[in-house]
Amino acid sequence: MLFPKNLSELYSGADLATLFKGNFINFGYWETVPNVISSSDVIQANQQLYHQVFKRLNLQKQDTVLELGSGHGGGCVLLSNAYEIRSLVGIDYQKEHVDHSIKSYLSLVEDKKLKFIQGAAESIPLPNESINKIYTIEAFQHFNALNTIPELKRTLCPEGTLVISTFFTKNSIDFQELLKLLPKPAILADSCNGEYACLTDILQLLENNSFFNIEIENISPYIWEGYDVWVRQNDPCIWDTNWKIAYKKGLIDYYIITATKK
Ligand SMILES: C[S@@+](CC[C@H](N)C(=O)[O-])C[C@H]1O[C@@H](n2cnc3c(N)ncnc32)[C@H](O)[C@@H]1O
Repeated sequence: MLFPKNLSELYSGADLATLFKGNFINFGYWETVPNVISSSDVIQANQQLYHQVFKRLNLQKQDTVLELGSGHGGGCVLLSNAYEIRSLVGIDYQKEHVDHSIKSYLSLVEDKKLKFIQGAAESIPLPNESINKIYTIEAFQHFNALNTIPELKRTLCPEGTLVISTFFTKNSIDFQELLKLLPKPAILADSCNGEYACLTDILQLLENNSFFNIEIENISPYIWEGYDVWVRQNDPCIWDTNWKIAYKKGLIDYYIITATKK
């Protein structure tokens, strides 16, 4: 397949259903990598990535929780089944993803256990300081960081927790090399015109927007190998095999960033 030109093409390719299972769309967190990977191994790895994030959210009964870039809704449902919290909303930019989530989990939505809303991370359709835990898994690469981080500050309550899990480059120069290997919509916001936010930019933006206690963990050893074995089992588009190559070349690493809002 040719490189998709925009976000909508990226998420409508035939490989989406082949590579992603169980209403998750992420590379997975692989404690061990089986020689031959089954669909249930993939779902387990997807869930493990979510559990890594949930652990760092320190979820409590009174929490109002937001997932940004909730995709097909599998992560919100995992959280809702595993933790007792006050409320949970999943927001995604793509209407198809929101409709899919609502349709797949209609009874949970009707029981008001969770909500799925269409919206953008850059203009979150929620009131100021209405959320006390925000997390986002493998979606931040699509966000315009300059516009999103002030929105995280606006919607989070004081002392609220933020957990971001996805890949970042260490510096801006790496983007030029990365764009030779991977389609632009897979690594950057559609609206981005050459402003690339690398890891240090993100950390600076967080600090400038009232975030402190910022912790960064590199979890690359648990991500790329497993996903690459899975991709190669599935007659992939050529660029799907470039993720691990980009990691091996030192162009990207996968992180969990945890921070508190002042
Ligand atoms: C790789 S998927 C991850 C989905 C989910 N977190 C998971 O792990 O299964 C990234 C998601 O981010 C969504 N997205 C992209 N740009 C967005 C934006 N600006 N605001 C909110 N969601 C966005 C996409 O539509 C997609 O559903």
